[in-house]
Amino acid sequence: MPLSRYCLALAAAAGLCTATNLYVASYDGNITTLDLTSSNGSYSLKATYKNDGCAPNPSWLNLDQPRGILYCADEGLSVTNGTLSSFSVASDGKLSLVHKQNTISGPVSSGSAVSSFTLAANGSFSFLQDETFKLAKPGPNAARQDAPHEHEAILDPTGQFLLVPDLGADLVRVFSTDSSLKATALTPLTVAPGSGPRHAVFWTPDGVTGGTSPTFLYVVAELGQTVTGYSVSYPSSGGLAFKQVYTSKTYGSGSEPAGTAPAEITISPDNRFLLISNRNDTAFNIDSPSGGSEKSDSISTFKLNRDGSLSFTQLWPAGGSYPRQFSINKYGDLVAVGLQLSARVSILSRDVETGKLGEAVASITVPGNITCVVWDE
Ligand SMILES: *[C@@H]1O[C@H](CO)[C@@H](O)[C@H](O)[C@H]1NC(C)=O
Ligand SMILES: *[C@@H]1O[C@H](CO)[C@@H](O)[C@H](O)[C@H]1NC(C)=O
Ligand SMILES: *[C@@H]1O[C@H](CO)[C@@H](O)[C@H](O)[C@H]1NC(C)=O
Ligand SMILES: *[C@@H]1O[C@H](CO)[C@@H](O)[C@H](O)[C@H]1NC(C)=O
Ligand SMILES: *[C@@H]1O[C@H](CO)[C@@H](O)[C@H](O)[C@H]1NC(C)=O
Ligand SMILES: *[C@@H]1O[C@H](CO)[C@@H](O)[C@H](O)[C@H]1NC(C)=O
Repeated sequence: MPLSRYCLALAAAAGLCTATNLYVASYDGNITTLDLTSSNGSYSLKATYKNDGCAPNPSWLNLDQPRGILYCADEGLSVTNGTLSSFSVASDGKLSLVHKQNTISGPVSSGSAVSSFTLAANGSFSFLQDETFKLAKPGPNAARQDAPHEHEAILDPTGQFLLVPDLGADLVRVFSTDSSLKATALTPLTVAPGSGPRHAVFWTPDGVTGGTSPTFLYVVAELGQTVTGYSVSYPSSGGLAFKQVYTSKTYGSGSEPAGTAPAEITISPDNRFLLISNRNDTAFNIDSPSGGSEKSDSISTFKLNRDGSLSFTQLWPAGGSYPRQFSINKYGDLVAVGLQLSARVSILSRDVETGKLGEAVASITVPGNITCVVWDE
């Protein structure tokens, strides 16, 4: 753990003070480094550096912690192309741009693609492949499903398959990779029409794969406001096979306000709970940092059951408006929430035994629409 400039040396030596860096992406063009210092049980959160190397519109961060390389995807909201950039991370959290290159067009002209790059250990990378997709006709929600909208790329637990939720096509696309690292499209998972799958996460209850150990996939659907669980198997004929074992609203059995747009889905580090952020449900009033009260969207917590079903556990204020993405720290006692329309990062406390979220221990305004926040531990 890096020693913060805000930790007094003596307090740190006595184990009273610890510090962690976080990186925050904002549509204003910056990646901001935050220093979260905990001293004798109270937290302070400060912005220490800004880097605009991922401009104009940073929208996702991926930290290769062992190598000290941070990758940033830029959506290029009002320009022709997106970009991918990489940064080396100094021990104090300062970022230095290593490499940046254009990618296929961003949302403006709907790139509708999965792009791959080969990475070098020093942070440089080179373009490998674009896979582009088309829709024969718009989906049931014509305004949002006018074209394929690839939303993220995740690996299965064996590392052999790449899965890409496509909000526009109501598919989770599946690819295998071969020794040339090229992605080959396989039979996708077809989800409920009009549900708009956005993000997904794998769960292995035993923490291992293969043999008789079960594997599950949970997909959060933005338009349908649902979470759906699938049991995943690996047929000898190749590819992945899916069997639906669970579905509910992201509130559990209850319905949720019209306009709620679930976004992020994550499993807690102890492998026992699943968390989903609900944007635009305005389910709570919270104390506003600037005084008075403020509407807050929510985060849902579910307990994961061995048969793949979920038990709804808690709905809790996310700390502001539009929790587009959030990250849990390694120990599981803190959740950093990127609140897009509040221009804020909130650090919520979390009870590692019950899995329930608690009050914010710190929060900070970061200019622009916050799109992503990751821990550097
Ligand atoms: C980054 O942050 C600085 C300081 O807040 C701001 O002036 C600038 O407009 C932001 N965006 C870019 C692309 O630099
Ligand atoms: C640490 O916090 C406790 C409880 O708030 C307080 O009594 C104590 O004086 C604090 N110690 C230091 C060194 O600040
Ligand atoms: C940038 O966008 C244009 C227009 O869509 C496209 O033709 C070009 O291939 C893109 N560049 C890259 C590097 O993908
Ligand atoms: C980074 O690594 C790549 C691949 O090994 C190499 O081609 C490139 O020259 C290296 N760049 C720097 C700046 O060392
Ligand atoms: C939030 O939901 C309401 C419907 O309740 C909708 O009118 C509004 O456009 C939504 N806002 C955003 C930012 O998604
Ligand atoms: C950023 O958020 C504001 C509302 O706070 C919104 O009006 C604006 O369109 C957003 N900008 C982008 C680029 O998403």
